Amino acid sequence: MDGKFMKRIVIFASGSGSNAEQIALHFKNHKEVSIAWIATNNPQAGVIGRAERLGIPCTIFNRSEFTSESGVLASLQAEKIDLIVLAGFLWLIPAFLVEAYRGRIINIHPSLLPDFGGKGFYGDKVHQAVIDDHRIMSGITIHQVNEHFDKGAIIFQAACHVAPDDTSAALAQKIHQLEHQYFPVVIEKYLSSLAIH
Ligand code: GRF
Repeated sequence: MDGKFMKRIVIFASGSGSNAEQIALHFKNHKEVSIAWIATNNPQAGVIGRAERLGIPCTIFNRSEFTSESGVLASLQAEKIDLIVLAGFLWLIPAFLVEAYRGRIINIHPSLLPDFGGKGFYGDKVHQAVIDDHRIMSGITIHQVNEHFDKGAIIFQAACHVAPDDTSAALAQKIHQLEHQYFPVVIEKYLSSLAIH
């Protein structure tokens, strides 16, 4: 059971959910932070099975629930969520939700923003674009979420080398390693800097 002063995180994910899982494992038995809930827009998402195995409640929402103030936002408020973590979540966050949780929504992006960010840059498309541009470095960016894709204030970045023979799958693997290493600890640090009501 959550203690009275627990900080409560919800994770939004659209896909496999390996980051969601690492975050959940990091905060398992944490004294001040709990993963209250995992939510997805994708009924086929791998994250649903991971949530079940982790014993974390998981819900699926549709576009109209996400874009109406009486839908997902009302649930977040009822659940007294302090921080929304986007971990491979593909929908743009509606302006009313950004406004309600300004500074309390963070996202991870698999490139060194501002490069290779914005609408259409997700998953392997990001890694392939980095390779096609002959970059020698890529990395991860953890940032606040505003009304625009991948444009909020940057909280943290970490870089890795791109080898000349890296495929997008090989680069994705390097990026996932960085994400799993850093995302949970950056979330923990970020939460501790937030004034929680
Ligand atoms: C990650 O690379 C993340 O940066 C991007 O989507 C991917 C999600 O991976 N936004 P997973 O579902 O957490 O395995």
